[in-house]
This record gives sequence, C-alpha cells and structure tokens, in this order.
Amino acid sequence: MMENNVFSGTLDNQEALQVLDSLPDAVVVIGLDFNVRWVNKTFTKLTGISRGQAFNKKCYDVFPGHVCRTQECPLSCILKGAEQCRYEADKHYAVNRSSPGIITATPYKASDGTLAGIIEVVSDMTPLYESRERFRKAMGGVIQAMSLTIEKRDSYTACHQRRVTKLCRGIARELGFSWERTQGLRMAAAIHDLGKILVPAAILNKSGPLSEHELAIIRAHPQSAFDILKDIDFPWPLAETIYQHHERMDGSGYPRGLSGNDILIEARILAVADVFDAITCFRSYRPAVGPDTALAELKANRGTRYDEDVVDACERVMISGKVDLGDTKKN
Ligand SMILES: [Fe+2]
Repeated sequence: MMENNVFSGTLDNQEALQVLDSLPDAVVVIGLDFNVRWVNKTFTKLTGISRGQAFNKKCYDVFPGHVCRTQECPLSCILKGAEQCRYEADKHYAVNRSSPGIITATPYKASDGTLAGIIEVVSDMTPLYESRERFRKAMGGVIQAMSLTIEKRDSYTACHQRRVTKLCRGIARELGFSWERTQGLRMAAAIHDLGKILVPAAILNKSGPLSEHELAIIRAHPQSAFDILKDIDFPWPLAETIYQHHERMDGSGYPRGLSGNDILIEARILAVADVFDAITCFRSYRPAVGPDTALAELKANRGTRYDEDVVDACERVMISGKVDLGDTKKN
C-alpha cells in the first residue's frame, strides 16, 4: 500500500501548523519591531488571548514580564548575537491573567537567512508552582502543629514563641528581607524553643534560682531542637537558626560560643526578638517590664552581645508601632 506523502520527510505549511498547535508549550513569533507575528493554539489557551487580538500588537503590551524594556529582553539578547535566551518569568497577560513560566527564545530567520525576529517558547509552570504552594502550606501546618504541641505543655513558651514570631517578621521587613526569607525566619521563630519539650516541667516552671545542673538542662534546648530538626530538608536554615538563637555576637552565648558572622543573620534577629520578649513578659516570679527597659538592655549591649543593625531595626519597629505583640501581662 502506498504511503501518503505526509510521511515523506517534509511537512507543508498546513502540516507544520498542525504540529505547532499540538505542542503543550505556547509558541510566539515576534518580529524585530516587537510586533507579535504568530502564536500557536496553546498560547491562546494559556493566555486567553486570541490570534486576532495578539497579531501585530507589541509583545510587551500583550504579555509583559519583568524583563520587558530591560537589557534582558530576549529580543535584545538575540539581536546582540545570543543563540538562545532562557529565563523564568511571571507573565501578565492582557486579559487579567498571569502565570509563571520558563521562556526560551531563539532567533527567527527569514527564508533568505537574515534575522527577522525571535521565537519564544513558553512552558507553563503553573501546576509546578501550585504543588510547591501546597507543599509550603503543608509545611507551615506541621510547624504550627509542633508549636501547638509545645503549647499543651508550656503555655508561656507558646505565647512567647508567637510574640517572637511577630517581632522577627517586623525586624526582617525592616531589614529588607524577601518574603521568602522572612517565611523561613517566621517558621524558625514559631518553634525556636522546641527543645524545651525535653526539659522537665519542674525546672521550666521553677520560680527560685536554678542550680548549675538545672541551668545546664535548660541550656541544652537549642541542641535538642537541632537534633529533632536537623534531618528535615527545609528550604531554609531552620535547624541551624534555632541551634544558634542563644549565641551572642561577642562569643558569650551558648551552646557553641559562636561569634560575629559565624552566627546566621536569622539567628541574630531571633536572639534580639527573644530577649526583647523575655524581658517585657510577665513571669510568675516577676512583673512585666515595659518595652523601654527591654530596648535599653538591647542598646546597652548593641555591638557586643547583639547585632547593631538588628537592635536598631528592632527599635524602629517598636517605636513605629508596626508590630503589636499583644498583651504581655498574661501568658
Ligand atoms: Fe531559647
């Protein structure tokens, strides 16, 4: 039986379009004048923009992204001689829709071989991002569950952790932390005293002075938390941050006596927030103290025990009233 010439090794225009329309990735051809010349069917489905709406419109109007009108614009890169330009972007389409994608641009050549524009292939990353988001939420839930477990046993530590988490977020924002990094710090703060779960309640709640032995047991809590968390592959240095939250800039802290830049910035923030809340908080053996006293303690040791920038940021946060730590008179 004779085979149809479709299988002869070449495709005519109609057949080539059929192939391009069947691709799972969006394909866009852009001219040297930034005008959209052609889009495949996947592009129209992904973006909600029809071929007619896209045709001859500027690419940066139809689907703008953060590289538009910058040095990293893929058309500019190809014009400078790059053979391929690949980047990750959150594209915002002209129909109030956006999606994260990986975009690969290659030269589009006219039949005489001269450069006529670029071909952009957009791989939609939405499903991947959604599953990442679900994972992140689940992880936050696990951290929350750990925090609640501590609360069942020791209500002071639980409230303290919540207030420290709020203050850490405020300081991190003040210091210009990204949202992502702030999330990691918040999670570390939410369970920073997890290791106290191994400290006998009689020692935790003792109102009188502690013996050397009892002090040593309490001081083991950063190590205990580290041992519990160290094998969990968090996207942030959670275990290490908690491990270091009682270290001090001048090396006077514990458990390892780390100093200066050997202490993670996250741990330096956690240390300041921890001390601030511990001072301002009501305990069974002494009344609550005002924030001014806590700030005075931090400032007196600014640059020695505590990181200067973090102390300054903490002061700005408290003075501005951006963070409400709630009622510190109760547990
Ligand atoms: Fe602690």
